[in-house]
Amino acid sequence: AGGTFVPAVVIGTGYGAAVSALRLGEAGVPTLMLEMGQLWNQPGPDGNVYSGMLKPDKRSSWFKTRTEAPLGSFLWLDLANRDIEPYAGVLDRVNFDQMSVYVGRGVGGGSLVNGGMAVTPRRSYFEEVLPRVDAAEMYDRYFPRANKTLRVGNIDKSWFEQTDWYKFARVSREQASKAGLGTTFVPNVYDWDYMRREADGSVPKSALAAEVIYGNNHGKVSLDKSYLASALGTGKVTIETLHEVKTIRQQKDGTYLLTVEQKNVDGKVLASKEITCKHLFLGAGSLGSTELLLRARETGTLPNLNAEIGTGWGPNGNIMTARANHMWNPTGTKQSSIPALGIDDWDNPDAPVFAEIAPMPAGLETWVSLYLAITKNPERGTFVYDRATDRAKLRWTREQNAPAVAAAKSLFDRINKANTTIYRYDLFGKQLKAFADDFCYHPLGGCVLGKATDDYGRVAGYKNLYVTDGSLIPGSIGVNPFVTITALAERNIERVIKQDITAS
Ligand code: FDA
Repeated sequence: AGGTFVPAVVIGTGYGAAVSALRLGEAGVPTLMLEMGQLWNQPGPDGNVYSGMLKPDKRSSWFKTRTEAPLGSFLWLDLANRDIEPYAGVLDRVNFDQMSVYVGRGVGGGSLVNGGMAVTPRRSYFEEVLPRVDAAEMYDRYFPRANKTLRVGNIDKSWFEQTDWYKFARVSREQASKAGLGTTFVPNVYDWDYMRREADGSVPKSALAAEVIYGNNHGKVSLDKSYLASALGTGKVTIETLHEVKTIRQQKDGTYLLTVEQKNVDGKVLASKEITCKHLFLGAGSLGSTELLLRARETGTLPNLNAEIGTGWGPNGNIMTARANHMWNPTGTKQSSIPALGIDDWDNPDAPVFAEIAPMPAGLETWVSLYLAITKNPERGTFVYDRATDRAKLRWTREQNAPAVAAAKSLFDRINKANTTIYRYDLFGKQLKAFADDFCYHPLGGCVLGKATDDYGRVAGYKNLYVTDGSLIPGSIGVNPFVTITALAERNIERVIKQDITAS
């Protein structure tokens, strides 16, 4: 059996995958990365690599006939979405029965579409979520390493205080403070100096041109510019794009045989390939890695996988909500798409919430204050394998999000009361809805550390098989997750290279 043999394969090119590939490359291990999305470096007919947020085209979405923006409506009208041709675009929305999950597709995974917010979790909460991981080592060594390699930076506070582009955040901060709530600055991988030059008019605008969820044409240090650029620089790492891994089978000699489908940008299958490797790293994200292992267990290609595969999933307590401000309190026609402040009420024992103050860069005054609340919801979902479609289905009900809505409501009720303001009910679809509880940006879990794997991401029941991404984190981390995913991957790959690769 066979196809091509490579010593190490990494599936995906998101955070966990990129860390693993860089460190394998540095250790001299020839490594092949397989990514189902495109490499985003070719300008389209308009001269830009990505289509913007205000006039999205097919580059925005992963094989959709209409864009599916999170804020689909304004005054209940579907103004933000556009009909498009199906195409290998950069943002996917995976729609399960009662929960939709946004994910990035392309070389860099979620880093291509996310808000770049780079937050190290509270140490006490990290210890609660992952009690078997040595927190001292994480906070002394791996979090600093992740922040440095991701090129995380902080906004210049004096600029923040005076620029029109962050008026929306200052308005929200003042209203939070009237309710006795504090805010904190949120670090980011967006190049803050570049943003200031955008404001000066000396460089093309990206954050200040409403770009984010469909890709930033400038300014953002996504993984293709940090970890993955360094990985390629080792000379040991190669990336194949538009290659989707379908199945994983262990062969008699212990190597792994992958079947891989290569497509073109319009979705036409160009080739079916077989690739064999000794060490296999799954970095296809919470949805992707969990589905691959679940399929392998249920179809018998990796029969020894344990019952934990598919369990422990959560949306990191994500709830979006919006408030309507008084006419005398505009949030500004100029809004940076990159958030800079969060309302921090995580130490509230009844309803811990960390709420990012999100922009609504519509180019006109909306009087809207928008938030992505991260709450502590103990509910967990489970993936099950659906034979008919050969896909993983998510068992998660809308009611399971009730604790998250309640926590967000308790915080924003206080802010509304202190400011005599109300919620906006028109932004999240056609019905009256103040809390978006049916989608998330932060899928976590499915192959939980210490349960589906050992304490370093080695998949239980198999040798040389690893999970490296957000599926290791059990459903919640209390802040935006990519710094934690990166730091945990740094910790795990260091151990694996030392014990399983260099030593063997
Ligand atoms: P990630 O999802 O990044 O990468 C997985 C990769 O694997 C993808 O490129 C995918 O195409 C590929 N893949 C999947 N299946 C495959 C298969 N079978 N074969 C080949 N390739 C496959 N977080 C944060 O910390 N700060 C923030 O500001 C934000 N903001 C934000 C906004 C939006 C719109 C989204 C969608 C998400 C965020 N996030 C965020 C979340 C963050 O982006 C997310 O947690 C990480 O990208 C997850 O990293 P992983 O390594 O787990 O996988």
